[in-house]
Amino acid sequence: MASEPVNVSEFEALAKKALPKMYFDFYAGGAEDEYTLKDNEEAYQRITIRPRVLVDVSRIDTSTSILGYPISSPIMVAPSALHQLANPEGELATARASAASNTIMILSFSSSYNVEEVAASCDAVRFFQLYVYRGRHIAANLVERAERSGYKAIVLTVDCPRLGRREADIRNRMIVPKLKNVEGFVSNDVDAGGGSNLEAYANSTFDPTLSWKDVAWLKSITSLPILLKGILTHEDALKAVEVGAAGVIVSNHGARQLDYSPATITVVEEVVRAVKGKIPVIVDGGVRRGTDVFKALALGAQAVLYDPTQVGRPIIYGLAAKGEQGVKQVIQMLKDEFELTMALAGCTSLKDITRSHVRTDRDRFQ
Ligand code: FNR
Repeated sequence: MASEPVNVSEFEALAKKALPKMYFDFYAGGAEDEYTLKDNEEAYQRITIRPRVLVDVSRIDTSTSILGYPISSPIMVAPSALHQLANPEGELATARASAASNTIMILSFSSSYNVEEVAASCDAVRFFQLYVYRGRHIAANLVERAERSGYKAIVLTVDCPRLGRREADIRNRMIVPKLKNVEGFVSNDVDAGGGSNLEAYANSTFDPTLSWKDVAWLKSITSLPILLKGILTHEDALKAVEVGAAGVIVSNHGARQLDYSPATITVVEEVVRAVKGKIPVIVDGGVRRGTDVFKALALGAQAVLYDPTQVGRPIIYGLAAKGEQGVKQVIQMLKDEFELTMALAGCTSLKDITRSHVRTDRDRFQ
């Protein structure tokens, strides 16, 4: 490999070199057989693009918006835990890089720096991802602090009643460092019984009683819009609309929760059809190329909204390899690839990207 990475996957190789095995495995790993982990990426590779030619593509506009906030391209930064294991500057670097890239970062509840520190690191629109621990006062405290610190939306993660079984972390006896946001509320000093301290910690803190009715509770304690992250079926997408979610994120948590859940790109259409353009649909999981972003948009294109994708691991790999600069480079690479894909497919703005610009397995066999 050349010393300068030329694509996002090469950042993964650099991150692997830069990080202790326990941390790289934590970032890269998925649940159990890691079937869904592979499928998240491979499902994109099974979709082909149907380009249109002889279109004037001298000017291409990749910009869009989410919840009314403009972003320079449909590529956002997914919430992911513990950025300080990748770089001492942690989420401060990720936040600055996201802001410089004119995109929105969703800060993880399980961040290394707390909501206030990240908010103070730079001036930008960002959202806050929420886990609900036992003892609702913790979530209430975090929501109030996020709102006070200027976060513009709450992203409630709904696929984590318990932690998925991540076997690499069990083997490595992954130790969870102190989580800044919940300092004073819970201790990370839990007995892992020789396994993953992260798993033991998560299972002693996550509230498995969280259910649909709690969205009303969450709405009662904040005026911020609430997005639900971890929706994979049309049934749940409809419920999300019914309970007044401001958006849904089609996600299987980067294949770290339920193994053999579907690759996210294979269920985007199902979700988009269910919500009928009433709320935005964001998708994450396995986005590694600008062509993937294009495919995701094309599959969502029957809705009125042109909804973004978001990336998890590539951001962390950029951070581990080259700090803030690495995160910027990863976002820029994806943006450049996406812009080139639009040009070669004959699309000059997101509204030109239609369902007929892609062909899926299902289309082929129909
Ligand atoms: C995550 N993800 C995640 N999601 C969430 O809601 N809260 C969190 O704290 C985390 N933490 C986390 C840590 C790590 C190391 C990874 C890889 C992922 C899931 C994340 O938001 C997103 O759904 C996936 O990362 C998307 O898949 P890709 O882009 O990593 O393939």
